[in-house]
Amino acid sequence: MILSPSLLSADFARLADELAALKAAGVQWAHLDVMDGSFVPNITYGPPVIAAMRKTSDLFFDCHLMIDEPGRYVDDFAKAGADLICVHVEATNHLERTCAAIAQAGCKPAVALNPATPLEAVRYLLPQLHMVLVMSVNPGFGGQAFIPFCLDKVRELKNMIIQAGASTLIQVDGGVTLDNCAELVAAGADVLVSGSAFFGHPPYDRRLRQFMERCGG
Ligand code: DX5
Ligand code: ZN
Repeated sequence: MILSPSLLSADFARLADELAALKAAGVQWAHLDVMDGSFVPNITYGPPVIAAMRKTSDLFFDCHLMIDEPGRYVDDFAKAGADLICVHVEATNHLERTCAAIAQAGCKPAVALNPATPLEAVRYLLPQLHMVLVMSVNPGFGGQAFIPFCLDKVRELKNMIIQAGASTLIQVDGGVTLDNCAELVAAGADVLVSGSAFFGHPPYDRRLRQFMERCGG
């Protein structure tokens, strides 16, 4: 299991320090939530802030774009230093084209689905996707409760990936805690995002260890 702490719950006034603390704790991925105030009812940060973070950190930047028509900004996020770019099914009419553009820009393509969006939307893209993100809250804010049916969704997606003979990773984001992480990994999750349940419980090395121990890793 890979833990990808969501910087949405970090101290925005000390992002460089937070990234350094994650690295020192043994974390490998950083989940960066980009929100535009249109696709979701909240606004965070964009390519200039990610470029500034990139200057201070060599963590794997897992960029979750909660923005309308993300295809317009793929090159900007790639240049800013994104390693993986995840776009929402619901945010674009041209998902395949956007994923191809992400790969063309040298980043790993990933697709996110809101809780109510059927898995069928990604079936034909699986061979070209590094990861599928199953949202387990309605995106926009940290600290929300996990929506229970998303556990079944992870199981179904795992079967779909096996049937397709693909090696796509499954990420789960929203309401992930020490209490549900083991079930999620057993259901097929490879990457867990955690915001409030991670940053709210320092020191980070101990918190990472607790997540890994719960998930048997
Ligand atoms: C929500 C974001 C999440 C958020 C998760 O829209 O995509 O990454 O930070 O926060 P928690 O883990 O607190 O639910
Ligand atoms: Zn996210």
